[in-house]
Amino acid sequence: MLVSLWKMIRDNCINSCSFQTTLLYYFTMITLNKISKSFGSRILFDDVTITFNAGNRYGLTGPNGSGKSTLMKIIKGQEEATSGSVTLPDRVGMLRQNIEDFKEIKVRDAVIMGNAMLWGALTERDSLYEVEMSDDVGMRLGELEGIIAEEDGYSAEANAEVLLSGMGIPHETFDQRMREIPTDMQFRVLLCQALFGEPQALLLDEPTNHLDMESIGWLENFLHAYKGTLIVISHDRHFLNAVTTHIADIDYETIIIYPGNYDDMVVAKTSVRDRAASDAKSKEKKISQLREFVSRFGAGTRASQVQSRLREIDRLQPQELKKSNIQRPYIRFIPAEKQPGKIVIKAENISKAYDSQPVIQRFSLEVHRGDKIGIIGNNGRGKTTLLKMLAGVLAPDSGKCEPGHQLILSYFPQNHSEIVDKKTPINAFDWLKERRTGLYDQDIRSAMGKMLFGGDDAFKQVATLSGGETARLILAGMMLADHNVIILDEPNNHLDLEAVSALAWGLNEYKGTVLVASHDRDLIHTVATKIIAFESNGIHLFDGPLEQYLSSRTLIS
Ligand SMILES: Nc1ncnc2c1ncn2[C@@H]1O[C@H](COP(=O)(O)OP(=O)(O)OP(=O)(O)O)[C@@H](O)[C@H]1O
Ligand SMILES: [Mg+2]
Repeated sequence: MLVSLWKMIRDNCINSCSFQTTLLYYFTMITLNKISKSFGSRILFDDVTITFNAGNRYGLTGPNGSGKSTLMKIIKGQEEATSGSVTLPDRVGMLRQNIEDFKEIKVRDAVIMGNAMLWGALTERDSLYEVEMSDDVGMRLGELEGIIAEEDGYSAEANAEVLLSGMGIPHETFDQRMREIPTDMQFRVLLCQALFGEPQALLLDEPTNHLDMESIGWLENFLHAYKGTLIVISHDRHFLNAVTTHIADIDYETIIIYPGNYDDMVVAKTSVRDRAASDAKSKEKKISQLREFVSRFGAGTRASQVQSRLREIDRLQPQELKKSNIQRPYIRFIPAEKQPGKIVIKAENISKAYDSQPVIQRFSLEVHRGDKIGIIGNNGRGKTTLLKMLAGVLAPDSGKCEPGHQLILSYFPQNHSEIVDKKTPINAFDWLKERRTGLYDQDIRSAMGKMLFGGDDAFKQVATLSGGETARLILAGMMLADHNVIILDEPNNHLDLEAVSALAWGLNEYKGTVLVASHDRDLIHTVATKIIAFESNGIHLFDGPLEQYLSSRTLIS
């Protein structure tokens, strides 16, 4: 470490950087040293040595299941690498994808939990005050008070509140449980958690998943102003292009850092790959010419020339190019033979409120057979609530929501844990088998293959599936299900670019009826022929595709 520190100081001082700043930079960067990680025979990355420097904003990219979240957990020390080590600054904030783990936690506490040491001391102290006092208890309490003071615990609540207010979370929610506030707000709370204690490095795992366009814009500005080392995982190309200065891409069993944003990386990666492929081709050609020479003169008098050709062949042996892990699933939904009536769902004057806060008010809608409806609008305006009522998962407070004749419905919830319980020990294959009686094993395997669960992957425990793999499993379940109407709530969250475009294709081809809520304009553009838009002045129904809706809105405003 000293040698590399010295080199770093030397290089930076030559660049006329001050010694102090150099030291600060050194201790706030993240270094991976010969890191490898595999699960069984599956290698995610092998022998990776890279540095993430302070002041840079790194996008960590790669398809679903490539190991992005695993790498982040290794950096944070929450998961062990198979080999290698990580150096990182003292204070590292991390945003994970596990919103549901915080359901029962109060908003303010969820933020303070960002400092694990402090949170541990606070909770232990509170539990010790409940037991009978003794010398030991008193001594331990003294130690805990020491930790709390050192970690600035006496200002923790005030500091957490400042962060929450800055993030636009209303004061009256601070004592509520996380499950009582809307999903996008829960996400903002977890972002406050990551920022609690002014981290020198920030690790964000798919921060845009629960955010609408406006909130994403806000997050982009926020990250631009962040001065530490940022590593952010995302499948959102627009977001990565807006935020990152570098891309760390996981592929070919390694991680390569490319300067520039996501689009720059795609160009650079393709050209590096093309060059490697053409090098390999020309080596093969040369080798076959040399072999021809060897076979022609091997038995003759030109022994020394043959020997040198053989050495040349050895030297030229092309290294096998590792296969890219980018793959495209095949998504096809076949409607049930039973056709529904002309009106598949009818909602009449439905209203829904949470804690007397109205979300949907006297809304009426007729969904017709064959409709492809895109649902758009900012977070917190009630898209999920409406879809749940239309799907029959949630009852309206007033009004009627009636299924049409012979409606058979399949529903993809925004929150995967509503149907995939990761706490239950079950593998992906059995989970699918339980979805519907009478399924043949080979049909399940076929749907799983299309959704990229080949070979042993079909028997992975659902608990170990990545976010995108879980979404693919739910979609495989829908491919096997009987339905004539499909309702999907933000299905593109977690999915990589290949999967989102395969999904858009599958929904477009579907001969049934589709309602899909998404912030992904490309998806809505491909699928929807009608729009339900949740705007600040109410819910608008529009009989036409997205572009027409957007231009009509521009004309009005
Ligand atoms: N404990 C485990 N046992 C076996 N396989 C595991 C385990 N944990 C994770 N995996 C597998 O490792 C791979 C990487 O998972 P990870 O969550 O890091 O992917 P990711 O790149 O973050 O994907 P996504 O984009 O879908 O979030 C996945 O195929 C996952 O199923
Ligand atoms: Mg992940």
